[in-house]
Amino acid sequence: MKNILVSGGAGFIGSAFVRRVTQKYPQYNIIVLDKLTYAGNLDNLLPVHDEPNYTFERGDIADRETVRRVLEQYEIDTIVNFAAETHVDRSILEPDAFIHTDVVGVYILLDTARQMGIQRLHHVSTDEVYGSIPEGFFKEGDPLEPNSPYAASKAGGELMVRAYHVTYGMHTTVTRGSNTFGPYQYPEKVAPFFITEAIDDRPLPLYGDGMQVRDWLYVDDHSDAIDVVLHNGTPGETYNVGGEHEMHNIDVTRFILKALDKPDSLIRYVADRPGHDRRYALTNDKIHAKLDWTPRHSFEESMLDTVRWYRENEWWWRKIKTGEYLDYYKQQYADRLAQAAHPD
Ligand code: NAD
Ligand code: TYD
Repeated sequence: MKNILVSGGAGFIGSAFVRRVTQKYPQYNIIVLDKLTYAGNLDNLLPVHDEPNYTFERGDIADRETVRRVLEQYEIDTIVNFAAETHVDRSILEPDAFIHTDVVGVYILLDTARQMGIQRLHHVSTDEVYGSIPEGFFKEGDPLEPNSPYAASKAGGELMVRAYHVTYGMHTTVTRGSNTFGPYQYPEKVAPFFITEAIDDRPLPLYGDGMQVRDWLYVDDHSDAIDVVLHNGTPGETYNVGGEHEMHNIDVTRFILKALDKPDSLIRYVADRPGHDRRYALTNDKIHAKLDWTPRHSFEESMLDTVRWYRENEWWWRKIKTGEYLDYYKQQYADRLAQAAHPD
């Protein structure tokens, strides 16, 4: 492994991975390929801008010519794919881009790599491909029953990864991470959205009864797990990556408000997300037993660090919350908030 293409490396988790591996592996050349969609942000990569082993290329993973050129030019031997449309609510409003990137884009990456004889590809997937589980924990062999257009397109992409391993013998691995939080996360996902809204004393729109459950994973743990699977994972295998910390949405919301010393009266119960998955939960037994990986950060400490980071880095998120972001906010929340209920 020498020249690694990190697609989607200007996003939240991809940039955390790039910041990590450029430092940890000075012997690797890290080439980021990113389309810079609304969620892609070169500010996320400022800390590595001057690193000699880091290069940025703007481009679409679904554009075969671009992918071929970059793979050739940098003599890529390994691909780590983070590139995706990632927000469930946007996938409900407009699924097209999700099919383009999360299905077709993954196929183009795989197929171009195969044609050029590149064997190693790690694909970053999500626990959402399993669907919802009322009790117990999903394990890797369980059926995929995705419920949102986002989850369905991620399932499509990862099944294509599987097919390229089985059919063409590519050395692929897949990780299915749980709900990830930390610095540099685009403020549409619930944690950075609620933190930045609460800083401004604005209402926090909690969907439905707020009793949905997510498993929370700190971004450094997520990128650490991807690093471990990239180096030690078995070709053809899929690994769950959970934070081992389940919480109801209402409790995450209250935790954030308390950390900011803001009142619970900012919470608004709003109309639910259509098809909202009630609970995500997965077991880390496989990655723990086979690769000796386990999350190291506690939810409490890392969420407090995350809240502090958004307080101290308004330069990063205030300029995002303008323009297209406000159009999306209006479309997603204006009616919901107008009809909202206060907490009792
Ligand atoms: P993000 O939305 O912050 O970043 C996605 C990045 O992909 C952006 O930089 C964007 O510009 C880029 N991109 C989008 N379409 C592209 C295309 N066609 N070509 C090239 N680049 C493109 O997402 P994230 O939260 O960092 O997620 C990264 C990966 O991890 C995704 O595959 C996602 O499905 C997966 N994942 C995320 C979470 C989470 O909680 N955030 C949990 C599990 C898995
Ligand atoms: P999100 O961050 O969108 O992640 P995902 O849907 O991929 O799990 O949402 C996390 C949880 O928070 C999910 O159950 C939906 C809920 N949520 C709200 O209640 N209000 C919001 O405004 C958002 C964005 C999410």
